[in-house]
Amino acid sequence: MSELVVKNLHASIEGKEILKGLDLTVRQGEVHAIMGPNATGKSTLAYTLMGHPNYRVTGGEVWFKGQNILELEADERSRLGLFLAFQYPVAIPGVSVANFLRTALNARRRATNPEDKGMPIPEFRKMLKEKMELLKMDSAFAGRYLNDGFSGGEKKRAEILQMATLKPEIAILDETDSGLDIDALRIVAEGVNALTGPNLGALVITHYQRLLNYIKPQFVHIMLDGRIVESGGADLALHLEEQGYDWVREKYENGESGK
Ligand SMILES: Nc1ncnc2c1ncn2[C@@H]1O[C@H](COP(=O)(O)OP(=O)(O)OP(=O)(O)O)[C@@H](O)[C@H]1O
Ligand SMILES: [Mg+2]
Repeated sequence: MSELVVKNLHASIEGKEILKGLDLTVRQGEVHAIMGPNATGKSTLAYTLMGHPNYRVTGGEVWFKGQNILELEADERSRLGLFLAFQYPVAIPGVSVANFLRTALNARRRATNPEDKGMPIPEFRKMLKEKMELLKMDSAFAGRYLNDGFSGGEKKRAEILQMATLKPEIAILDETDSGLDIDALRIVAEGVNALTGPNLGALVITHYQRLLNYIKPQFVHIMLDGRIVESGGADLALHLEEQGYDWVREKYENGESGK
């Protein structure tokens, strides 16, 4: 079983420390949610775990499948089975959804088996069609350039399609619910639910309890000022929905661990 273990992680951007000693363990088969006020470092955590070059790790460790992944490049982390669905997916004009997914999938297969010749095209097409049906995506989508002119909701679906194709062991979903209409939210959540199970560990970053009605987390964490300050079960998200963050700020900002 794979697990992602984050220990006392510190990271900065443009010389400013954003992550200030974050601890978290996500195992395959578990669903974790991270909630927290704007600008507390949730996306920074996601990018730092994926190895985005703008984020500088200044302390701590991140282990995945027994390797210290801080030493690995972003593409190596991805081939190892880590996946990030971005809050703001970028467009890649000139590269179709299908080609992008096939290239990424074959790179991941080669990482596990250097002899792998890639998935044969007919098999790939069939697999893609099934995944797109699962996410209720029009088949014409596969031929479009990735995220180029996609609506907000289409981008989010394309991210989940990517996850369904790559079958990561640990997936980080950064605000996959933002910008989705009510039906799309349900479809995307059902897509995620179809993928979660013993083989996938998910870290879902969200602002809204409503996503968690569909994607049921076993663990909910509250992030404040670059750290996880509270962890609990699904009821913690309900509590936040009712109470907001004031009690968290009062407890941690001017208290023992605040600065
Ligand atoms: N490239 C950058 N240059 C300067 N500051 C940055 C950069 N990227 C992020 N930051 C800062 O890091 C802090 C944390 O940002 P981050 O995006 O991680 O927050 P977040 O918790 O994801 O917020 P939200 O809920 O709004 O998505 C913010 O103050 C942000 O302005
Ligand atoms: Mg964010």
